[in-house]
Amino acid sequence: MSSTVLLPLRASTLRRTKSRAPSRVVRAAGVGETRVFRGIDPRQLVAPTIGHTVLVTGGTSGIGWESSRQLYEAGCRVIVAGRTEEKAEKAVKSIVAASGTTGTGSLEAVGIDLADLSSIKKFVDDVAYESFSAIVLNAGVAPDRAAMGMAAGPQTAKRTKQGFEETIGVNHLGHFLLCQGLLPKLLSTAGARKRIVITSGEIHNAESPDGRNGAVPTLGDLSGLELGPDFEMCDGGDFDGNKAYKDSKLCGVLFARELARRLRESLGDDADVVCNVFSPGFVPTSGLFRNQSAPVQALLKFAFNYPPLATSLETAGMFTTHMVLGRNTGETQGAYYCGPPDYYLPEEGMIYGFLRGIFAPEFGEKSPSFEAMDARLGRRLWELSEELVGTKFDVAPQDRDREGSPVAV
Ligand SMILES: NC(=O)c1ccc[n+]([C@@H]2O[C@H](COP(=O)([O-])OP(=O)(O)OC[C@H]3O[C@@H](n4cnc5c(N)ncnc54)[C@H](OP(=O)(O)O)[C@@H]3O)[C@@H](O)[C@H]2O)c1
Repeated sequence: MSSTVLLPLRASTLRRTKSRAPSRVVRAAGVGETRVFRGIDPRQLVAPTIGHTVLVTGGTSGIGWESSRQLYEAGCRVIVAGRTEEKAEKAVKSIVAASGTTGTGSLEAVGIDLADLSSIKKFVDDVAYESFSAIVLNAGVAPDRAAMGMAAGPQTAKRTKQGFEETIGVNHLGHFLLCQGLLPKLLSTAGARKRIVITSGEIHNAESPDGRNGAVPTLGDLSGLELGPDFEMCDGGDFDGNKAYKDSKLCGVLFARELARRLRESLGDDADVVCNVFSPGFVPTSGLFRNQSAPVQALLKFAFNYPPLATSLETAGMFTTHMVLGRNTGETQGAYYCGPPDYYLPEEGMIYGFLRGIFAPEFGEKSPSFEAMDARLGRRLWELSEELVGTKFDVAPQDRDREGSPVAV
């Protein structure tokens, strides 16, 4: 199992290299602080059991690193996935160092390059874990400055190993294949409901402030993906890095809802596995904006100092943790969750949404965009994704009206 390194590390086995105050926001149920923060009461987290195994992709940086730390501190066995094993090992060491003696779980490092289908297949084929309680499909790339149209010159799509446009290739297709490969493990794991958590963003919504800044997210008629691996954009248009990122987050919501529909249709309302999707908010201090220019990065840092414009890394990690361990998030299937400042309804208007972010912050379920609720589009995206990655999911669709109008899960 060359791509997988088991690295069970305990705080006590490592020299503490960085002091840090213990996390004040996430504890196992009934333990530690009970501060209610932005709508999440740590008492509402399910108590992690021994062997509660959670895989987090993109665990080497930003939100994935932070949620891995919180899950570790909450007692889970966290499989930190990085694009290489070495990066994941480094992340594991830094999490242990940051947690000090607070961590009560365990951490292991694995390498999965989501830009290479063979790396994903290898991980799935070799996977040594008997069971998974949750998988968090969090990793993501945003195109660099040139691709975002912020630098001189034409926008050029980067390609994954199999030739997919990188943003859709990593953020959607790589996770699609990984999820397909791990679903049998989730289904065969005994115990409480297992969870598939997909990290999307409000930017998937053409009505949101971020979504309508520049070309709006839309997959159109999927004519780009119909062309095969050489696609530039899902909708068949010319490459636009900013839109490709938004589209990838839209794919995440459509994928989550289609998987949820299939799980429900195949296994019933009380399916043992649930799939939900969420927005962590706008998190300027993660690594996602590393390719932006210095002025843009300075602006992002400025925004960070003015919540509720921005969400801190700790809060975004807490949203992720809540998706994995929250009591209510284990009861929904195909739901979209969102926290402030993005948690607003377009009809409320920006100012009301902004004020609500300050005075009534909450992390809750809301409607995704209209396009994200189009069941027919979700089904077609699923079929094309299967063709592109070359394998099929084990959860079959039941007889459903292919021509039906958008259907909510
Ligand atoms: N930051 C925000 O404002 C925001 C808002 C909404 C949604 N999100 C979503 O949150 C998720 C986490 O992003 P972040 O903000 O925490 O950014 P980040 O700090 O850049 O983290 C992204 C992670 O994805 C990993 N990754 C990238 N390409 C990969 C590949 N080919 N194979 C495996 N791993 C790969 C990165 O690994 P490397 O370190 O090796 O590059 C990194 O660990 C993303 O899905 C993003 O779209 C972020």
